Amino acid sequence: IPVASFDGVVFGATGDLTMRKLLPALYYRFRDRQIPETSRIIAAARSHHPDSEYREMAQAALRRHVPAADLDPATMEGFLAHITYVAVDGLGDEGWPDLARLLDERPDQVRSYYLATSPNLYGPICRNLSAHGLIGPKSRVVLEKPIGHDLASAKAINDQVGQVFPENQIFRIDHYLGKETVQNLLALRFANTIFERLWNADVIDHVQITVAETVGVEGRGGYYDGSGALRDMLQNHMLQLLCLLAMESPLSLDPDAVRDEKLKVLRALKPIPAHDVPSLTVRGQYVAGAIDGKPVPGYLADLGGETRSLTETFVALKLDLMMPRWAGVPFYLRTGKRLPQKMSEIVVQFRSSPFSIFPPESFAREPNRLVIRLQPEEGIKLEIMTKEPGPGGMRLRATGLDISFEQTFNQRYPDAYERLLMDVVRGNATLFMRRDEVEAAWAWADGVLQAWADRPEPPRPYPAGTWGPTAAIALIERDGRTWHEDIDQ
Ligand code: BG6
Repeated sequence: IPVASFDGVVFGATGDLTMRKLLPALYYRFRDRQIPETSRIIAAARSHHPDSEYREMAQAALRRHVPAADLDPATMEGFLAHITYVAVDGLGDEGWPDLARLLDERPDQVRSYYLATSPNLYGPICRNLSAHGLIGPKSRVVLEKPIGHDLASAKAINDQVGQVFPENQIFRIDHYLGKETVQNLLALRFANTIFERLWNADVIDHVQITVAETVGVEGRGGYYDGSGALRDMLQNHMLQLLCLLAMESPLSLDPDAVRDEKLKVLRALKPIPAHDVPSLTVRGQYVAGAIDGKPVPGYLADLGGETRSLTETFVALKLDLMMPRWAGVPFYLRTGKRLPQKMSEIVVQFRSSPFSIFPPESFAREPNRLVIRLQPEEGIKLEIMTKEPGPGGMRLRATGLDISFEQTFNQRYPDAYERLLMDVVRGNATLFMRRDEVEAAWAWADGVLQAWADRPEPPRPYPAGTWGPTAAIALIERDGRTWHEDIDQ
């Protein structure tokens, strides 16, 4: 179903995010006829380019980031024809009248202003949009993460943007919320009575959330080194996953109904007291190693030969939620760069039966686990105990009821940005973060960051291609539990 006709202005149009994610996402939506012919993509950045030159850059980006089988020349040409380029200086005055003239040609269109720029431009760009009269009831602004680097800076950005856009016109992207499998968490939990009844501390022993990447910092060292794994992944993507997993049922899928429930989870995050931070959090930094058998350099070399950096490229921590549903259930979270495989998953480990008729030696390990694979090989596996066949007695083994989404649905999974960009045009903010959510997440993260800053210690080294520092394994094993992949190996 096509969305309403829109002018999509992308600030930061020559940047990596636009080339790698936004243009491919818009291309697919155009190809699938969701973008009306009268819509325009207005690419804006500081440098000067004629339309033709920018379209060539866009074409090259599509060739690089969209599989050849999906690139049909006529469709690509049609798509590129929708792109116009304007040189606009986010901080200064230059280019704004040109942008205003362009937008005034179609005053009735929905307008989305996508700020794919560094966050220090969010305030100035918003001020300029307002000063040039470019904000109307059908305008929306889209903010990419990071929204600040701590609570105070997040508030400052939210204040600046909030001075010119009402909250319901602000769309803060967390692209994890646009992933099909992340949305599927809502379906899994709230469309299946069997799980919801078991979703609590009576039955669940603990939860693990892992977001592992094989990539290093890939030329983003400048940004990353000022940020680190906690700010880059955990404060946003992973806490959002935690919210969907842990929240109470919203009353509906309305944006505020869902976000109210997520907010309660974020506010229920138990602050980690400073004296417990060293034992409940682990920071790591990769050193040279190998991924898939190929040697890769360490983090400092990726930064261009720095001799020292205290930034963590891996973080693992244990947290608690102050919610009756989760009393006493620990959540173990870990994420890192240069781990052995790209893999994001949530593991819900159920408790063992308080009394077993089977002798302990008949189990290989704890029974009943639900594994939600977010990417790749998206799917859900419920592990249940079965008797191994044979006359040798009662040996039990965990076997999986396993759903592979790819095999079940046999269709292409749209990229998260495709869904989210169209939701902006539709004005549907369910999958975007509200101001209070972002700030609640920072309020919790600030406690950890502050404790780290107060006792600065170098992160623990781990060779690229391993599952992080051994302290991360100790973090969970101390509690008599094990990270998921370790068991299967
Ligand atoms: C981004 C982070 O938000 O998410 C990157 O800034 C990270 O460092 C990326 O690589 C991971 O996203 P995905 O969709 O590849 O899991």
